Amino acid sequence: IGQGPLTGRRILVTSGPTHEPIDPVRYIANRSSGAQGTEVARALVRLGAEVIFVTGPADVPPPDGVILKRVETAQQMLKAVEAALPVDAAVFAAAVADWRVMGATDSKIKKQSGALPVLEFAENPDILARISQRRSGRPGLVVGFAAETDDVIANATAKRGRKGCDWILANDVSPATGIMGGSENAVTLIHDAGAEDWPRMSKQDVARRLADRIARTLT
Ligand code: C5P
Repeated sequence: IGQGPLTGRRILVTSGPTHEPIDPVRYIANRSSGAQGTEVARALVRLGAEVIFVTGPADVPPPDGVILKRVETAQQMLKAVEAALPVDAAVFAAAVADWRVMGATDSKIKKQSGALPVLEFAENPDILARISQRRSGRPGLVVGFAAETDDVIANATAKRGRKGCDWILANDVSPATGIMGGSENAVTLIHDAGAEDWPRMSKQDVARRLADRIARTLT
């Protein structure tokens, strides 16, 4: 861990998908690889920050130099995030499942001839919104991501308002872009003063640019 503009700053990063159990052997998940969140954490460490990295089961290994908190479900992620507070800034890059399966069982659901299981869902907590709207202990800077397939900027701007975060990095995850699971990203940074399109670049470069921006804002 080097010295840098973020030395002495504590920053939380969430990353990866969540897994929502159906029973002990089955779960519902999404296609997040954890690549972008991992790069953000790495870039913040590089600038000297103390990074608490709360990650779901990602495809990519966690970066070196972070305080690592592994979780599986959205509810566990919320707990780990709350336990990490207070922080100077928080970046929410996790693809948290919107729903969990109600009544997930401790024993494996048996296949029965003729009978198909029916899953019921409950809404998961919106971790970004909860933290953004805290009255006490809100991080000084809260950054969210908005993965959209249509009307990217309009949807992301509305999301920023609804959730109450300071910045949103909007990206188009339409299959044709190859971004979900790929190594590049094309984002628009949306803040109080408007929207800035960043050119398509590697997820590592997006992360470095974001980390620089965070450093300039906190110092
Ligand atoms: O609403 P949507 O999932 O598109 O919002 C994306 C942003 O909100 C991301 O920053 C994501 O990490 C965060 N989020 C969260 N908890 C949820 C859902 C999304 O922190 N339950």
